[in-house]
Amino acid sequence: MSRPLQEHEALHIAEAQAPDRDVVIALWRRAGLTRPWNDPDADFDLALGHEGSRVLVARERDLAVGTVMVGFDGHRGWIYYLAVDEPYRRTGIARKLMRACEEWLTARGCPKAQLMVRLENEAAIGFYAALGYEKQDVVTFGRRLQAP
Ligand SMILES: CC(C)(COP(=O)(O)OP(=O)(O)OC[C@H]1O[C@@H](n2cnc3c(N)ncnc32)[C@H](O)[C@@H]1OP(=O)(O)O)[C@@H](O)C(=O)NCCC(=O)NCCS
Repeated sequence: MSRPLQEHEALHIAEAQAPDRDVVIALWRRAGLTRPWNDPDADFDLALGHEGSRVLVARERDLAVGTVMVGFDGHRGWIYYLAVDEPYRRTGIARKLMRACEEWLTARGCPKAQLMVRLENEAAIGFYAALGYEKQDVVTFGRRLQAP
């Protein structure tokens, strides 16, 4: 259900701190971003414990309504775990979270932001395209370095 933008005048985006872990992971879960083979607590702790990454939280007054993870590996910037709670979607919150990620990366000299989207996630593909992100002609490979 869309809500008018003026209801988000109080939106505030800040870096997540350790006590935000449960509220952030609850947002990931409600947005369908967690997977049985990934440990969200470990993902959150790793991101907060590393100089090159952050988790951002968007709050409307005191209520967490959106979140995203951003990291710079020294070559490219990567964006993960973007989620906006369903009642707050289509009001520009994810766009603001992405802008905050881009500003964070730009401030560190990062020349390009990248992200991965599951092919079946048409909503996210539509969202990133609307923000000017372009589909890259690559295949992503991965190999686990630790047992899940
Ligand atoms: C994808 C997601 C983060 C978008 O959040 P949002 O706050 O609703 O996005 P915004 O309101 O900032 O949208 C900005 C623009 O993106 C586009 N957009 C957003 N959602 C869209 C959708 N479902 N389909 C097509 N385009 C979309 C529109 O152009 C929109 O502008 P408009 O509302 O003026 O038309 C949200 O749908 C979500 O949390 N989804 C579940 C989690 C997810 O899939 N995350 C991405 C993982 S890769």
